Amino acid sequence: MRGARAGGPELPPPPPLLLLLLLLAAAAAAAGQPRPSVVLVASDSFDGRLTFYPGNQTVALPFINFMKRYGTVFLKAYTNSPICCPSRAAMWSGLFTHLTESWNNFKGLDPGYVTWMDLLQKHGYHTKKLGKIDYTSGHHSVSNRVEAWTRDVAFLLRQEGRPTVKLTGNKTHIRVMEKDWQNTDKAVNWIKEEAVNFTQPFVLYLGLNLPHPYPSPSTGENFGSSTFLTSPYWLKKVSYEAIKIPKWSSLSEMHPVDYYSSYTKNCTGEFTKEEVRNIRAFYYAMCAETDAMLGKIISALRDTGLLKRTIIIFTADHGELAMDHRQFYKMSMYEGSSHIPLLVMGPGIKQQQQVSDVVSLVDIYPTMLDIARIPAQQNLSGYSLMPLLFEELENEVVTRKPRPPWVLSEFHGCNVNSSTYMLRTDRWKYITYSDGNSVPPQLFDLSADPDELENIAMKFPVVAHSLDKILRSIVNYPKVSSSVQEYNKREFISWKQSLGQNYSNVIANLRWHQDWLKEPKKYEDAIDKWLHQRQHQ
Ligand SMILES: *[C@@H]1O[C@H](CO)[C@@H](O)[C@H](O)[C@H]1NC(C)=O
Ligand SMILES: *[C@@H]1O[C@H](CO)[C@@H](O)[C@H](O)[C@H]1NC(C)=O
Ligand SMILES: *[C@@H]1O[C@H](CO)[C@@H](O)[C@H](O)[C@H]1NC(C)=O
Ligand SMILES: *[C@@H]1O[C@H](CO)[C@@H](O)[C@H](O)[C@H]1NC(C)=O
Ligand SMILES: *[C@@H]1O[C@H](CO)[C@@H](O)[C@H](O)[C@H]1NC(C)=O
Ligand SMILES: *[C@@H]1O[C@H](CO)[C@@H](O)[C@H](O)[C@H]1NC(C)=O
Ligand SMILES: *[C@@H]1O[C@H](CO)[C@@H](O)[C@H](O)[C@H]1NC(C)=O
Repeated sequence: MRGARAGGPELPPPPPLLLLLLLLAAAAAAAGQPRPSVVLVASDSFDGRLTFYPGNQTVALPFINFMKRYGTVFLKAYTNSPICCPSRAAMWSGLFTHLTESWNNFKGLDPGYVTWMDLLQKHGYHTKKLGKIDYTSGHHSVSNRVEAWTRDVAFLLRQEGRPTVKLTGNKTHIRVMEKDWQNTDKAVNWIKEEAVNFTQPFVLYLGLNLPHPYPSPSTGENFGSSTFLTSPYWLKKVSYEAIKIPKWSSLSEMHPVDYYSSYTKNCTGEFTKEEVRNIRAFYYAMCAETDAMLGKIISALRDTGLLKRTIIIFTADHGELAMDHRQFYKMSMYEGSSHIPLLVMGPGIKQQQQVSDVVSLVDIYPTMLDIARIPAQQNLSGYSLMPLLFEELENEVVTRKPRPPWVLSEFHGCNVNSSTYMLRTDRWKYITYSDGNSVPPQLFDLSADPDELENIAMKFPVVAHSLDKILRSIVNYPKVSSSVQEYNKREFISWKQSLGQNYSNVIANLRWHQDWLKEPKKYEDAIDKWLHQRQHQ
């Protein structure tokens, strides 16, 4: 029986007839068992490695630990695209980024996609979305989209403020990210005032901005978000002595695409160890604040008695490098950026379980359908997590397609000057770029080299080749890369035309203005040259 636990109080054995009746009653209850409610808390920028050893040594995350104690933690969960909008598009549509053409923060899901929440609503669930959603097209700054469109231009400009830290408030200051707290309050009130009285199950989504870094207005009006901000209250949750200072390769030894990322993120200058340690500490403190918001939701479910019939899922759209590999932000296939947290607890779900299968955000969609007992949809990119989560699925006719031993992530947006594809298996991470030939691929053995410091693609060509072959059977990636290049050019041209005479003025004053204004003609010429280049196939 699902959810049955050993170790209850000893009772005398019941007479046989009564036993039979009890069994029949239990079977009837199981058949008509109400479908559980679901609460999905999705943060931003959360490095999944903080949810298990040794990453969890650096900061106290009591509610993530609570979920581990009473539920399941995934040790190898990945984003399907390490940037907000494309990642969320994959999570809500259940489809890989190249299938929905969610190329960058401006190009997410176009209208017409049916989300898992739409389907749950259609099948009788009450639904509620609160906080950061960000999976549809048309949002984010002009700088952000122009940087993505022009990533093939032969220039190198710093676009972001240098990452920095800022301490605010005092030892009792808890609500640093006030807007997230307000959304958390709304979710708590919704649980306590509405959900508690529903006769049908519900699904609640809460999207948090934390632990995404904050804007750095000191770099002018076109600032990016490179300030790691917290209060002493959260900072004291961090164990400074457990913070690992990442090893960096020298600038000249960096992979060329990594160098582009680091440069555009203004991270190629000198950083002291103390500076790096502080950025990491402040980032971890921001994760602790996020954990406390998750805690409010768990507490509200417990206080209302809903916890025993609600499945809680905690995840994030992507990670945060926090100076791993000489970068902050995400947009990278390195662990800090692509590895996400994924924890699930609730009725019937295995407790204190650690799952090491590779999984990714597109798995959320079929899992939601499974939870709500909605027949599986065709053509989804992911696989239900249910078989990995539940104690036992009794009398279940196994109709699911088996989970493959890999996950796919891809990136086509800003701060990376080439479309990037990652195939992650239990042991390996294979990263290839563009057409597969013009940029050297990377191969990491995560079991021997968890910090991804040694690219062994040349040393193990057979492994690299076989992973490349699997990748090509999932996606014709050279073709996808060239269609992104065409899209970028087309979008840029139409944006340029919309500006008319003002083009030179507007482009010079985007987020890269400090560098651009030093040599405006040089950079405009580089763009013209790119616009006149024929597309290389
Ligand atoms: C870290 O996670 C491991 C299991 O992954 C657990 O045994 C340990 O207690 C955790 N430590 C902390 C400080 O949370
Ligand atoms: C890059 O960082 C430097 C400090 O290293 C800072 O002076 C400059 O404003 C930053 N550039 C941009 C574009 O933010
Ligand atoms: C901390 O700051 C708040 C205002 O943000 C103030 O009300 C409180 O008295 C301060 N507490 C201490 C211990 O300084
Ligand atoms: C929920 O139900 C309780 C008890 O039946 C009732 O007191 C309360 O007013 C209801 N709340 C709402 C928002 O309907
Ligand atoms: C990306 O940028 C780096 C740094 O400027 C450069 O070396 C490399 O050739 C570029 N790669 C591509 C594919 O444009
Ligand atoms: C599934 O995808 C294939 C190819 O992408 C398409 O031909 C087919 O119509 C799709 N089926 C459904 C049910 O969407
Ligand atoms: C030109 O662009 C600037 C921003 O760089 C804007 O403030 C101004 O209003 C624009 N002028 C016209 C005529 O569109």
